[in-house]
Amino acid sequence: MSYYKIADLEQYFKHYKKSVREPRKFWSKIAEENFTWYQGWDKVFDFDFPKGEIKWFVNAKLNITKNCIDRHLSKRGDKTALIFEPNNPSEEAQRITYNELYIKVAKTANVLKSLGIKKGDRVCIYLPMIPELAISMLACARIGAIHSVIFAGFSDAAIRSRVEDCNAKLIITADGGFRGDKSIKIKEIVDKAIENVTSVEKVLVVKRTNEQVAFNPLRDVWFNDLYQDANDTNIAEIMDAEDPLFILYTSGSTGKPKGMVHTTAGYMVQTAYSFQNVFNYNDTDVFWCTADLGWITGHSYILYGALLNGATTVLFEGIPTFPNPSRYWDIIDKHKITHFYTAPTAIRSLMTADYSYVASHNLSSLRVLGSVGEPINEEAWHWFNDFIGKKRCPIVDTWWQTETGAILIAPIACVTPTKPTYATLPLPGVQAVLMDDKNNEIKGNQVMGSLCVKFPWPSIARTIWGDHERFVKTYFSDFPGTYFTGDNALRDEVGYYRITGRADDVVIVSGHNLGTAPIEDAINQHPAVAESAVVGFPHDIKGNALYGYISLKLEGTSRDKDNLKKEINQLIADHYGPIGKLDKIQFVTDLPKTRSGKILRRVLRSIALNQLDNFGDTSTMINPEVVKNIIANRL
Ligand code: PRX
Repeated sequence: MSYYKIADLEQYFKHYKKSVREPRKFWSKIAEENFTWYQGWDKVFDFDFPKGEIKWFVNAKLNITKNCIDRHLSKRGDKTALIFEPNNPSEEAQRITYNELYIKVAKTANVLKSLGIKKGDRVCIYLPMIPELAISMLACARIGAIHSVIFAGFSDAAIRSRVEDCNAKLIITADGGFRGDKSIKIKEIVDKAIENVTSVEKVLVVKRTNEQVAFNPLRDVWFNDLYQDANDTNIAEIMDAEDPLFILYTSGSTGKPKGMVHTTAGYMVQTAYSFQNVFNYNDTDVFWCTADLGWITGHSYILYGALLNGATTVLFEGIPTFPNPSRYWDIIDKHKITHFYTAPTAIRSLMTADYSYVASHNLSSLRVLGSVGEPINEEAWHWFNDFIGKKRCPIVDTWWQTETGAILIAPIACVTPTKPTYATLPLPGVQAVLMDDKNNEIKGNQVMGSLCVKFPWPSIARTIWGDHERFVKTYFSDFPGTYFTGDNALRDEVGYYRITGRADDVVIVSGHNLGTAPIEDAINQHPAVAESAVVGFPHDIKGNALYGYISLKLEGTSRDKDNLKKEINQLIADHYGPIGKLDKIQFVTDLPKTRSGKILRRVLRSIALNQLDNFGDTSTMINPEVVKNIIANRL
């Protein structure tokens, strides 16, 4: 009996039970039968949750790129692995076969080696969504270097903190990038980011826009020059199951981003398994995930999960509204996409465009639709179902996190009956539980609580780069004996999960997981600002937007407020990235605080939500008079 594919609901329940009762047997069978290993494991897993220690496929040896590419060559060498759809529809799409991908990855791996990059070195990648981004990630994995992709919308300061945190030796970037009708000077941003950063020895520059860029001959190297002469075969490095594959930064409740570390074998097994099942993948499908490779969704489902299954995966450089809001529907029609996996924020924004943009396209190739990154509201769900899937494509609402590596709660397409706004059931191997404030598991159905997982799964992150203590504190301390997701959820009468929102100071804006602390750090750098608190509030398109309460220093109070707002948002764009800009800024005399000086964000959150009747326990507040003032001037 194989566990790799779930055929029907009965089988889902059977596999789920097996995965809980005999997790070793369940996962070892999947791992054995579906992947290539240099050497098997001594033990399927080993863990100590309270210490944040987790190992899977102990002592096994492998290389993930052998599994993503090499093993497909005999059967699928001429099959398209990547379809690159450029920003501008007038530029021709590129199709890269598995054979070609092998050569491109081998040559790029040899380029990295020629620059002295070795197993264990950190390589930051700051590239637009072009094939070289996917290829660079695979090339790093090929030689055992740890990639850390930085989303190309981040500012120089955000790049610097990430590069410094992981001590990257190399940065791979481009001269520029195209985004809608703009061209972005990517290299310039990197140059500014790494001024005085000593760990970076080389900057490898891919040509994309062909614009003139500053070039430091001692440090900068043109990718294309080295690539041309590079050897087109490469022997994959032998990696241990627990060798890090990549670091990916995510927001936390302090200003410093958390470098989540994913290792090789567990991540490989579970991204492949979840891709196969959640999307009901068949060999002739064309899979399009609209995320950026700079986020975990891109890592796990544009790249690794898709290639591990020998799929054809689409890489789109542009944005949904350029040259007009029919771009996504054009691409689906043009490439006969079967799977369209996107974010609620994109759906909400495209819903507002004239329906003729959709109607003029043939979407009959579509088979499965997917949603990720934030709760999908009922209206968006129905629009997606009725107008894009034409009521014949299941919508898989996939719940997971950067930390989880792979989808944990989601329908199995064509198997699990879907329900609008519900991520439905945990995948086999995922022991989801709801916990109450007293650390008791809430059993039964029709209940709400903090969403935790009480048993490790193969693709769970192993640590925070350089700060294991923070890893333990963030994920394993609030509900001892479990992994705490930071989300609240409810379980309905049949056991389906619905994620109701974050329990911490993270706000999901347009599907991006934003920590309010680093945004506040950026605001507080303004000389007129005394203090700030940023919270989320509901927004029709973005899901949530940011509301900043800002108190000014005396010298700031006489300043023109519109100018101040602009300057503050510019500071955020510079120090954090434009995605962190505030939609509403309210200048306040003071912020509500506890006796110990802690800002009462709960109160500010309620005010932003216009929930003014119940602020919860305010007995510790020392300055209740400021709350009246804030309410009176609420935006
Ligand atoms: O709050 C949940 C929300 O996004 C958070 C994880 O964000 P990130 O690490 O950036 O990964 C996003 C892509 C996997 C979660 O803690 N979230 C993600 N998917 C869903 C969701 N909330 C509701 N429904 C979802 N399907």
